[in-house]
Amino acid sequence: MKSIHQAQFESVAAVQQGLADVDYIASREIATSVYLGFNLEKPILVEGPAGVGKTELAKSVAQILDVPLIRLQCYEGLDEAKALYEWKYAKQLLYTQLLKDKLGEMMAGAKGLAASMDRLHAHDDLFFSENFLEPRPLYQALHQERGCVLLIDEVDKSDPEFEAFLLEVLSDFQVSVPELGTIKAKVKPVVFLTSNNTREMSDALKRRCLHLYIPFPAPALERLILQRRVPGLSASLNRELVNFIQAVRELDLKKQPSVSETIDWAKTLLLLNAEHLSLDTVKETLNVFLKFETDIAIAQDHIAALVAGAIKPDDSFHARAG
Ligand SMILES: Nc1ncnc2c1ncn2[C@@H]1O[C@H](COP(=O)(O)OP(=O)(O)OP(=O)(O)O)[C@@H](O)[C@H]1O
Ligand SMILES: [Mg+2]
Repeated sequence: MKSIHQAQFESVAAVQQGLADVDYIASREIATSVYLGFNLEKPILVEGPAGVGKTELAKSVAQILDVPLIRLQCYEGLDEAKALYEWKYAKQLLYTQLLKDKLGEMMAGAKGLAASMDRLHAHDDLFFSENFLEPRPLYQALHQERGCVLLIDEVDKSDPEFEAFLLEVLSDFQVSVPELGTIKAKVKPVVFLTSNNTREMSDALKRRCLHLYIPFPAPALERLILQRRVPGLSASLNRELVNFIQAVRELDLKKQPSVSETIDWAKTLLLLNAEHLSLDTVKETLNVFLKFETDIAIAQDHIAALVAGAIKPDDSFHARAG
């Protein structure tokens, strides 16, 4: 089995630069995990709150490698058939209808049920061939000529039985289809698993993966993300906005605003032609980054102090943002 090779994965700094080139601003920790996962050929289990860039990381790596991203979205009840392959029963049935005459001819002269069955069995491989197989994400991932990034998204939503099956696939990148034999990956996929921690993953899965926890970004990193994702935003509004969001994350909220909400809020303020944070604009747009009425009420209680704190001049900003 071959491995994907890419010059941009030759050092941690190169990974960090490669990610930045596709607009993903990675901390040193993130770049290190990607560098190690790629070069040790280990899956990376990415955990962290919603909206911190777990899924986007896998997409960005696929973009750098210029290979397809194949995504397996996990959910309760996801089984092997939905993840690997299914037989196209309807197509099989249609073909037997269309070939009725031919099948009749083939059976002619066969004495009894057992003899007819034997004749049919001799043609099993026609009906259980790739023509009648519906490839699902894991199967597709094994079949990519140039490799792929396989994203097993929200693996914590799947059932423990499915996790056991995944372990098998991830250990040797091959699966056996009883009717077709063993299928081995042409090129080893680069694998990301993401989890929001709705349940603990098994020790066996953790052992097989590198673990990466993505927290909410530090202020300097969040400013760089905004710079990249919302290019029209002024440096001063960028700083105020990040200060504000970082302070809101300290409140006792049901759901803290994530990077995706910071980006949405920045785009909103840009649309409203805001040049600085003001009490009024913040009040009117709280619902862009807070998703629960109770959280909005808590923020309202502290709003004056939050705005005042956010717009304080901070000379170290340019030095820190690099
Ligand atoms: N480090 C980053 N650099 C650039 N953009 C980022 C970064 N982190 C997050 N984003 C932005 O935030 C958005 C949300 O990220 P993403 O969908 O990857 O979150 P997630 O962690 O997978 O969330 P969930 O747990 O809800 O699936 C992305 O579309 C991306 O634009
Ligand atoms: Mg996601």
